[in-house]
Amino acid sequence: MPQIRVNPFSPSRPLADAGLFAGRAEELRRGYQFVVQAAAGNPRHMLITGPRGIGKSTLALSIVGMSRVETQYLGLLDVDTDPAARPLLVAPYIAQVGQGTEEIAATWIARLRRATSASLGLQVDEAEIGLLIARLKIRRTTQEGTVASRLVGILSDIVGDSRAFADGVVLYADELDQIADQSEVAPFLKVLSEQLAHEGLRNVAILVVGQDDLAESLAKAHPSAIRLFEQIHLTPLSDDDVRDLVDTALIGTDTKAHSAGMEALVAAARGYPSAVHLIAHEAFTIVGSRPATLDQGVEVRRIGAGDVRMAIEQEIGRGEMTPPQD
Ligand SMILES: Nc1ncnc2c1ncn2[C@@H]1O[C@H](COP(=O)(O)OP(=O)(O)OP(=O)(O)O)[C@@H](O)[C@H]1O
Ligand SMILES: [Mg+2]
Repeated sequence: MPQIRVNPFSPSRPLADAGLFAGRAEELRRGYQFVVQAAAGNPRHMLITGPRGIGKSTLALSIVGMSRVETQYLGLLDVDTDPAARPLLVAPYIAQVGQGTEEIAATWIARLRRATSASLGLQVDEAEIGLLIARLKIRRTTQEGTVASRLVGILSDIVGDSRAFADGVVLYADELDQIADQSEVAPFLKVLSEQLAHEGLRNVAILVVGQDDLAESLAKAHPSAIRLFEQIHLTPLSDDDVRDLVDTALIGTDTKAHSAGMEALVAAARGYPSAVHLIAHEAFTIVGSRPATLDQGVEVRRIGAGDVRMAIEQEIGRGEMTPPQD
């Protein structure tokens, strides 16, 4: 009977295993800088931009991991880390179509309350998010301050409550391009960063992720707004990083990449980790449907150039990829 092989590639979701992280040494170092400066009370807000599938969320999650002092992420760094560092509380928010700045603020607050109460051993009600959104909306219509200033007011309490076990807070928002009305998000981020500075909340750092137009609308919101954020613009991985990604993922499986298969994969992916995972996932499945060959008594399968071509055709057929243009 054919066996079920665990596929080590994970198309269409950010990497969950730091052990499979490839490349991005410089970006990780800058991400760690972001963490260290926030913990030291000298925050530099960060904006991660880049095209779809380039690895924005994966990089952001590794920065979140470093903020939480997770050793698997700190271990990716080629710099010395502080063994006595305390965590930053992370408030994650992933945007959905139709949401606005009230949802961002309310989700951040609810996540932080949960993080602080977990540390204090208290229970939190999930329905709180809905109540918070409603409250923030009322505040806005009655002109009692902007969403950003109301958020900063609540944050200041949370930071005070968490001082005993955390060195600060990371406000993290991903997929901000899902919020169609970028004209609302950009001024919100600008006012938020200004209010944080104004209120002396120096251990709160913002980490936002979006496609390139987020940077443009931030710059448009105010010429100085973009300067409040340090931008990491992600470009494709190098060919060596792609080879490294594939080889590392295949460790511990019955499958290896032939050099011709590897080069076909490198050429097709053009440095996009999303394409590497998509094609390699399918190629791994394809070689699994064939009998293995024996190499010194061990069963092995090899991904060849033909497997990569077939994988690409399958993905084009499924609408996951578009045919190459040149
Ligand atoms: N540095 C990396 N090493 C290995 N795999 C990666 C790396 N970066 C991203 N990936 C993989 O590439 C795919 C796309 O990554 P990710 O979701 O982070 O991209 P994204 O830019 O956030 O995409 P989107 O624009 O769709 O939100 C995922 O399958 C992820 O596991
Ligand atoms: Mg993403």
